[in-house]
Amino acid sequence: MSGSTIADEIKSRCNIVDIVGRYVQLKRSGGSYKGLCPFHSEKTPSFVVSDSRQFFYCFGCGASGDVISFLMKIENIDFHTAVSKLSEEYGIDMDRFGYRNEGKKNEIYEMNREAAVFFYRNLTEKPNPGYEYMKRRGLNPKTIARFGIGFAEDSWHALLDHLRQKKYPEKLMLEAGLLSASGEKRYDRFRNRVMFPIFNTRGKVIGFGGRALGDRGPKYLNSPESGVFSKKNNLYGLNLTRKEISSSNCAILVEGYMDLVSLYRNGVMNTAASLGTALTEQQCALLKRYTQNVVLAYDADAAGRKAALRGIELLRKAGINARVLHISDGKDPDEFITRNGKEAFLKLVDQALPYADYLISVAREKYDLATPAGGIGFLKEIRGLLSSLSPVEADVYIRKIAAETRISESAIRREVNETAASEKRTADAGAGVRRPVPASGDQMTEKRHMEGDEMIQMHFIKLAAVNPDYLEAMREYESVFEDPAYARIYAMIKNVYLEDSEVDINKVSDNLLPEDNALFQRSLQRVVFPENSDRVFQECIEKIRYERMEKRQNEILEALTLLTEEESDRDRADALTKELIELQRTMQNIKLR
Ligand code: UTP
Ligand code: MN
Repeated sequence: MSGSTIADEIKSRCNIVDIVGRYVQLKRSGGSYKGLCPFHSEKTPSFVVSDSRQFFYCFGCGASGDVISFLMKIENIDFHTAVSKLSEEYGIDMDRFGYRNEGKKNEIYEMNREAAVFFYRNLTEKPNPGYEYMKRRGLNPKTIARFGIGFAEDSWHALLDHLRQKKYPEKLMLEAGLLSASGEKRYDRFRNRVMFPIFNTRGKVIGFGGRALGDRGPKYLNSPESGVFSKKNNLYGLNLTRKEISSSNCAILVEGYMDLVSLYRNGVMNTAASLGTALTEQQCALLKRYTQNVVLAYDADAAGRKAALRGIELLRKAGINARVLHISDGKDPDEFITRNGKEAFLKLVDQALPYADYLISVAREKYDLATPAGGIGFLKEIRGLLSSLSPVEADVYIRKIAAETRISESAIRREVNETAASEKRTADAGAGVRRPVPASGDQMTEKRHMEGDEMIQMHFIKLAAVNPDYLEAMREYESVFEDPAYARIYAMIKNVYLEDSEVDINKVSDNLLPEDNALFQRSLQRVVFPENSDRVFQECIEKIRYERMEKRQNEILEALTLLTEEESDRDRADALTKELIELQRTMQNIKLR
C-alpha cells in the first residue's frame, strides 16, 4: 500500500467505463468504447474511453484524463469533491490516505457557516451599530448579502450561547477561534465588530475578519491560524471573483477587505485581497490558476509602496506579469473608487506600470534629475535592474533615461554592461552550486546524424505507434509533419487508433504504401528510448516550440527594419517590440532550463 495514493486506490476499484457510461452513451469499439463527447457538441463520436488504460480522450476538443478528472469536468467540481464522491460510492476509507481530518474539518466549516448566518442576522434583522456603520460606508443590503457581512454584538457570550444551542462542542469553537479562553473562562473572540466571513474557493467558511467599531483592540481582528484557516494560502473574495478574474484574464490585488468589497460593488469584480499579510508565494500560485496578469492596487502610503515592491518581485518570480497601480486620490482603492467611480479607477488600472517602469519610477522619485549628481545617483540605482533585462528591453529604457538625465546613451550602456559583467564574476566565483548541464544529447538517438526536423518527425512516429496517449498530446504539433511521407504515416496511425482504439503496428504497416512502410519501419528501428519516452517527447516539443519562436523572432526583426519613424508606424513598432521582448524572454528561459 505504501506509495499509493487515494487516486490510485479509486482507479483500481472503479471502472472509468461505468462512470462515464452514466453520462455518455458508449459503444464498444475494439478494446475501447466510443461515444459523443460530453464536453463539446458533435454529431459523430470522437470521444474514446479506454478500458485497459482507464483513460478518456476526445479527438475533437482535446479533453482527456482519468476517472477523477472526468468527474471534475462533467460535474464542475474540484479534485477533493470528486475524490470524496468516488470514495464514498466505492467504500474507500479516505482516512488511510491522510484525509483523516476531513471529518472534523467539515464540522468546523459547518459551525463557521452557522456563525456567519448568526452574524448576518444580527446585522440585517434588527437595528444595530454594525448596519449603521456599513451604511455610512456606502454598502447596500445587496452587497451585504453578497458578501455575507454580519455583526458580532458587544457581548461576551452571544455566539457561544447560540452555538451551544446548536450542539457544537466548546472544544470545536476554541479550535476554530470563535471562542477565546482565559483560565477557566470562555468568551466570544469577536465582539462589537463588523464581520467579514472568509470563504475558500470551494465555498467553505474558513474564518472571519472582524472590523472594530469602537477603539478596543486591533482595527481588524482575524480568525487565528488553524487546520482550516491559513492566511498564506487564501485570498479574500476569490470565491466570488475568480470567474471574473479568469474571464477578464486579469486580477487586481488589494490590501483590505473593504477595498475588495468597495471595488466589487462599483462593478470592478476581478479582484482579490490578501488577508492582512504580505503577499505569499502560495497566493501567487493560487492567482495563477486564474490569470497570468496581476495589477497591484495597494494603499498609497509608504507601507503600501513597500508592499508593492515586494509583491511585484514575488509575482514576477511566480511567472506572473505584474503591474503596479498608483492611487492618485485618497489613501486606498476603496476611497478612490468611492470618490471617483469605476471609470476613473479603470483608468488607473490601464496606467499601472509594468515591472521595470515601476522600479525606475520608484528610484526616480528619490533623485533630482536636473542635477548631475542626481542623474548619476539615479543611474547607479537602476543599472542593476537594466542589466537584468533583455537587451531589446534594456535598450528602450536606456534611450528614455538618457533623455531624462542627459547622460549619453553610450555612457549608460557602459555602466550597465560593467554591472552585468561584475555580477557574472560574482556569480561565477560563488558557483559552488552550479546547475548541472542537462544530459539531453544522449537521450535523442541519431540526433547528430539527422536533420533536426526529420529527427522530430521520426520520434513522433515512433512515440505515436508505441503509445497512443501521445497522439493526443501531438495534436497541436501536427504541423511538424512537413514531409508528406511522415504525414501519411502519422495519419494512418491515427486512423487505426480511431478505428480500433489501439494501434496495431502490423495493421498500420499493411495499410501503408510500400515506400512509406519502409520509412515507418526505419523509424521504429532507429528510434530507441534509452530511458523514458515522456522525456524524449518533452524534448521534441521544446525543440519545436523553440524553433517556432526563432522563426517568429526573425519575422519581427525583419518587419521592424522595414518600419519608419513616422507617426503612422509607431503603434505597430511598439506592438512588435513588445512581442519581441516577450519572445526573447521566453527563449532565454528555455535556454536556462
Ligand atoms: P488598513 O488599515 O489599510 O484598513 O488594513 P482598510 O482596509 O483601509 O480598512 P478600513 O477602510 O479602515 O475599514 C488593510 C488590511 O490589513 C489587515 C486587514 O486585512 C485589512 O483589511 N489588517 C489591518 C489587519 O489584519 N489588522 C489590523 O489591525 C489592520
Ligand atoms: Mn480603507
